[in-house]
Amino acid sequence: MKNDGVKRAIAFSQYPQFSCTTTGSSLNELTKILGKMDPERQMIWSIIDRWSLHSSAVNAFASTIQEALDKFSLDQRSKVLILFTAHSLPLSVIKRGDTYASEVCATAYAVMKFLGLKNPFRIIWQSQVGPTRWLGPQAQNAISEFARRVKYKTESYPGIILVPIAFTSDHIETLYELDHEYIEKDAKKNIGCPEEKIIRASALNDRPEFIEALATIVKDHIMEFPNIDGLHGISSPQYYVPCHECIDTDCLNSRKFFSYHEQKKPEKKNVN
Ligand code: FES
Repeated sequence: MKNDGVKRAIAFSQYPQFSCTTTGSSLNELTKILGKMDPERQMIWSIIDRWSLHSSAVNAFASTIQEALDKFSLDQRSKVLILFTAHSLPLSVIKRGDTYASEVCATAYAVMKFLGLKNPFRIIWQSQVGPTRWLGPQAQNAISEFARRVKYKTESYPGIILVPIAFTSDHIETLYELDHEYIEKDAKKNIGCPEEKIIRASALNDRPEFIEALATIVKDHIMEFPNIDGLHGISSPQYYVPCHECIDTDCLNSRKFFSYHEQKKPEKKNVN
């Protein structure tokens, strides 16, 4: 990019919700690489470090749920249980001060609000590994139990929709873990939950609403700070506050790098 004469760059995280284990570590790497490749800082960088509540993203997630809800009959639709599922994190990371879990919950609530808060919903956590304690409820256990209740009609919801709320595209956690392990093998085969009663909302992938959302998020970012000549940084205000138990100098260096503009903050332009 530097050789091509790029003067202005935006690092746009494709994780909607910020975690130090994902976006944070990527930005730490970016900071290190830029320190080596552009020590004189000729390129001006800003970051879109999270967009968990951006209205266009909320709209895109909601469209995947509406599409899944439409597969149920009209009289059942508002009673379907929505299970938002996101990658879990070790509790030690949450305790350290990571904001991921609260951002996932905020996205889920915003999406449900967009849909009119008509359906019951829960947030569950998948893909935990190793012996340490992770954030729960654990997805497989929760899905099995809810599927059992649907099968035996012990509660009033007629079906379940799983919604990957922290992944933007299909990959092993959606296609294998959710579709194969949790839905096909466990809920349908082991428990006997009828096929049409437990489905997964599509990932965002290349749906038009998501492509539109990505473009809108970048446009809003640029318009919010139209003139950052001579300044580096620009991120969400959340980024500048490191975890209260963080002792990683890489995190501190990144925050210094991307908060350079704090010395001379550009005038904020109202985009509405
Ligand atoms: Fe969160 Fe360092 S681990 S800021």
